[in-house]
Amino acid sequence: MRTFAVQPTSGCQGSPERLTLVVIKTRYLLTPEITLAKNEKNRKPFPFLGMNSKTSSSSGLKREHEPVDILSSSQQPTSAFVIPKHYACHVRSVLISRGQIQDRVEKLAADIRSSYAHTTVHLICVLKGGSAFFHDLQSAFRALHNASGDAHVPFTFDFIRAKSYSGTESTGKVEISACDLSKLKGRDVLLVEDIIDTGTTMSLLLPLLKEEGLPKSIAVASLLEKRREDKDVKFVADFVGFSVPDEFVVGYCLDYNDAFRDLQHICCISPEGIERFKDGI
Ligand code: HPA
Ligand code: MG
Repeated sequence: MRTFAVQPTSGCQGSPERLTLVVIKTRYLLTPEITLAKNEKNRKPFPFLGMNSKTSSSSGLKREHEPVDILSSSQQPTSAFVIPKHYACHVRSVLISRGQIQDRVEKLAADIRSSYAHTTVHLICVLKGGSAFFHDLQSAFRALHNASGDAHVPFTFDFIRAKSYSGTESTGKVEISACDLSKLKGRDVLLVEDIIDTGTTMSLLLPLLKEEGLPKSIAVASLLEKRREDKDVKFVADFVGFSVPDEFVVGYCLDYNDAFRDLQHICCISPEGIERFKDGI
């Protein structure tokens, strides 16, 4: 396992695409700095995805399916759902219920599967937040595959850990712990992420994986995408479940200082919740 602390040397996405790669937990000193700009310019666009839609994803190609919009006004009272006692006053509202997540993930799995046709997708779960989505997505893939009778292996998988948030704030830096990236070579890779918020994590992680892993294609499936009020969108994922308002959300493995990962619905945190878990559990 290699651990990198990655931060943009100037700006986060766009030019110059230059990353500082600091190896912080290994005795191997890898290339301390890699410059992506030149190689990226020369590289053909990654072969990917549908070509008929409105939004271009950050892989440079068109997004065929748009996410479901969750409006701020569609927040539902916590009294209408089962909220465990340990979080009773710590969430303000339910934004997306467990049932709605399940139904949407099934459809995402079908969309993803038809985009990859008969290839074996290499899923990379971005820990820790992406783990519930990853779990449900792979079981939906399995169900679709078993019902289809197709003979190819539907997916393989691996894990990457990325950390960029402290409390409710993005630190602007991303700590990445990855396994052997050479295993991505020539594969059709799909990163499975919980939320695209500022886009910092993906705008730094993706160039690293392309450069070090040399996959055949790489795309991103994110359960959520945040409509940031500052409109500072640095990254657009290829497959997105829901577009959510600019609120700090928790549950379904999305956390606040490691709390709320065990909550089954996606909820808006309350001021009491922020105070209660400001130093962790
Ligand atoms: N909730 C939890 N984790 C996050 C969020 C959020 O709203 N944005 C980025 N990481
Ligand atoms: Mg995440």
